[in-house]
Amino acid sequence: MTRTQWIKAALIASSLALTAAAPASTDTRAAASAPKTHRITFDKYSFLIDGKRTYIWSGEFHPYRLPSPGLWPDIFQKMKAAGFNTASIYFSWGYHSPRDGQYDFSGVRDLDKLLDDARDAGIYVIARPGPYINAEVDSGGFPLWLTEKPVRNRSPDPAYLKLADQWMTQIDRILARHQLTDGRGTVIAYQVENEYYNGSPAGRAYMQHLEDKARADGITVPLVGNHNATFVTGKGAVDVSGWDYYPQGFDCSHPSQWKPAPDMAAHHFAGEPLFTAEFQGGAFDPWGGPGYAKCAQLINDRFANVFYKENIAAGATAQNFYMLYGGTSWGWQAIPQNYTSYDYGAAITEGRQFDPKYYEDKRIGYFLHAVTPITKTNPMQPGRLDDPRLIDRARINPDTGTQFHLVRHGDTTASSVEQAHLTLSLKEGRFSIPQQAGTTLTIDGRESKLLLADYTFDATRMIYSTSELMTIATIGSRDVAVLYGRHGTDGETLLGFAARPKVTVLAGHVTSHWEQHGLRLDYRHDGLAQVLIEGGSKPLLLLIGDNRATQSIWRQDTSRGPVLMIGSHLLRSAHYDDGTLALTGDGDSDTHAWLFAGDASRVTWNGRPLSATRTASGALALTLPAPRPVVLPTLDHWTRRTGAPEIARNFDDAHWKIANRTTTSSVTKPGTLPVLFADDYGFHTGNTWYRGHFTVNTGHVAPTGLKLKVMSGGKAGAFTVWLNGHFLGSVTGSELGAFSFPSRMIVPGDNVVSVLTVDMGHEEDYDSTGENRTARGIVSAEPVGATANAITWRLQGAIVDESPLRGPYNFGGLYGERREWPIKPGNPADWHPATLPADTSTPGVTWYRTSVPLDLPKGQDTSLGLQIKDPPGRHYRAMIFVNGWQMGNYVADLGPQHRFPIPDGVIDPHGNNNITIAVWKTDRTPGGLGRVSLVDFGSYTSPIDVSTIPAGK
Ligand code: GAL
Repeated sequence: MTRTQWIKAALIASSLALTAAAPASTDTRAAASAPKTHRITFDKYSFLIDGKRTYIWSGEFHPYRLPSPGLWPDIFQKMKAAGFNTASIYFSWGYHSPRDGQYDFSGVRDLDKLLDDARDAGIYVIARPGPYINAEVDSGGFPLWLTEKPVRNRSPDPAYLKLADQWMTQIDRILARHQLTDGRGTVIAYQVENEYYNGSPAGRAYMQHLEDKARADGITVPLVGNHNATFVTGKGAVDVSGWDYYPQGFDCSHPSQWKPAPDMAAHHFAGEPLFTAEFQGGAFDPWGGPGYAKCAQLINDRFANVFYKENIAAGATAQNFYMLYGGTSWGWQAIPQNYTSYDYGAAITEGRQFDPKYYEDKRIGYFLHAVTPITKTNPMQPGRLDDPRLIDRARINPDTGTQFHLVRHGDTTASSVEQAHLTLSLKEGRFSIPQQAGTTLTIDGRESKLLLADYTFDATRMIYSTSELMTIATIGSRDVAVLYGRHGTDGETLLGFAARPKVTVLAGHVTSHWEQHGLRLDYRHDGLAQVLIEGGSKPLLLLIGDNRATQSIWRQDTSRGPVLMIGSHLLRSAHYDDGTLALTGDGDSDTHAWLFAGDASRVTWNGRPLSATRTASGALALTLPAPRPVVLPTLDHWTRRTGAPEIARNFDDAHWKIANRTTTSSVTKPGTLPVLFADDYGFHTGNTWYRGHFTVNTGHVAPTGLKLKVMSGGKAGAFTVWLNGHFLGSVTGSELGAFSFPSRMIVPGDNVVSVLTVDMGHEEDYDSTGENRTARGIVSAEPVGATANAITWRLQGAIVDESPLRGPYNFGGLYGERREWPIKPGNPADWHPATLPADTSTPGVTWYRTSVPLDLPKGQDTSLGLQIKDPPGRHYRAMIFVNGWQMGNYVADLGPQHRFPIPDGVIDPHGNNNITIAVWKTDRTPGGLGRVSLVDFGSYTSPIDVSTIPAGK
């Protein structure tokens, strides 16, 4: 059944035209720039915002992994639409600081825009500015130039603190003006450092320094940590301590094997809410790894279902998931272990599509938002289950008496289907539920059910339900509740009524029984049933869905109360503008939608009026515009240009840096002198070239070979060696190579050995041992058959100041990068026609480029990407530039990434696009760059339609 079919079955449109007149009033969303003061407090139960208990349901997002500011609202709105109220955001020092003392917060680095976008979407922010963030980002977020400073990172070393303070001053100034407490934004918490576990006096002094600095810089929100049990009390303690938990680890190759859930109740600190600062939302994947589809399978919707609810049952009232949207480690931001994609198997994919986990997060998120008693609970006596494999973890709100029962497998890794009865002691008495003969409470494999009992909402009293509640709201003159369960399972709900109400089953099969305490409904979760119950102080409309049906149920809150919509791909926002209910959202090919709203005289969708008809259930039936089909052009008309003139003996390297250093900032010991580490000469990204000169004449003993040790970082490293323009060989998967110099290649006079190396990223400095200063480039160069200094070296790598808009990670040091070919390709005559797949067998560097005009439907959000396909056994590496942005590093013989999402803005869906690919072929086997094509990850009618990126400063 398609979405429309089952909804149609459920909602029969009547021909009642919409005439309801709405009172004229303006929506009262906070004026954007007027700072208001708010109070953020906490106690052992929860955070409170202006005294109101608030469940923090948060997802992690990294702006430096989405270089398109026009898409930031997309992520925040998608979070909000899934019931998230908070984003946890790392700020990467290195992303904003190309050089010591230099900072950039413009263009794709415009954090004022980012924080305004979060506020406008109704999302709170937990700000995590480091200075160290880890995050699988180069140097753990430390700037590239810190590789040249031999300071003791993450310690009270004054030389380090001076540099850290430089960053803190810059970032704190921005964060302070976006605080909820006294700024114009929604920053509610500030994390100090990251997973810092050094509780020694020095470690405490360091933490205290950062905290004093934050306060001195005007940070007034609570200081929080993800330092587990460190810094809970004493010097350096944060206000609220949080936990980092990744129960499944990071190997996605066995995605159906689970490790058990931790019991977070054991980690509740006195006087503080239980806060999981990072809880597993996916996993990163290494070069050559199983791929992100496997990570999405490991940390799937069932994982969210069992593990996130387990945290709720343990008493957590602040949960952040790392990642909710992973994005792209574009340019050279990845650490050596990871490839470009940071999809993470997260709820929102790198291409901004919904993983099934998104809908599970949404079901739980809506529940937490609607059922406010969850923010203040204590453990209580569990109910009894007649199935020994199941347990109940129960909590109760001491003020309202609302009970929460998490029914789950005793073993959280179990996957058996269990059918049971649960005995509960409730205000109305003891019940063994479900009561209906022949029906059961089903735990469907990897599933937990968070059941509500003794729950009162407005005019509705739910004594118990074996369905889970997704949301409940007063809409217009009645209450509307959404209950759900897995498709085909039994459900039973007992509602309290003083007198027998009138029950109208509008859709689906639901039986009702009037019993001592009220109205009992029995049903199977199948599609979307609808029951109207009249007779209480307000009518109650029950929507009872299977999991699938809940996917297209969206809730938004307006100044005139909640709005519920069934249908559309996504409801982004709803607000009243006089009598008009203005909705924004995304539409797919299923154009039917139903809206439950208060009174609205007009409804608009993305600014366009919609005609609406009233249905028997009181909903408005709407028809949304359908997206137009997307037809992607094939990529052809390629041209090529050779790109490694450095190989030639007579290449002019006179202006290159001479390797003459005898000391290094690195933690790696040089194998030979002079020091040849790229970072020591200011070359921090991607490829670095070395040219070693030696003289052959009578009187000189010339080397007959060369032994090299080269560190690229990780198993995706490589280096290639030429002598006087002749290929000597490449090394992949090792740091060591020995090359002999055949005498036929030697010439009298100056001889040149050219070495192409690559820095696959700098190590994180998790242990504060200076690992970001691990050497990159040549570590030792030993001439064979000649003296140690027979070869003199020059080197050239990335030029830091190229392309400030794109920043310090965009370009490495290939010839074409130093001349910015991806932006300025130069004379067309230098580029020769080429066809792909390329059949070259010459090792070296070749650049390919093409232009592709795109004319994709306007008013539509189309998520695009580039794909490279190769037959197995190709030995080359490629860097993909789109309009000058380096969006992908591809290693043909390692993988696993073949598809590279390109955010709109970087690619222009309505304009011309330049695609430039630098190919480094490492051997002589036939076959170069493979087939390159555009891919479409999804296209919806949408208010998000981004063409370009704003200019930087
Ligand atoms: C955490 C760390 C994050 C990230 C994560 C794994 O321990 O705080 O920055 O590295 O692990 O993705």
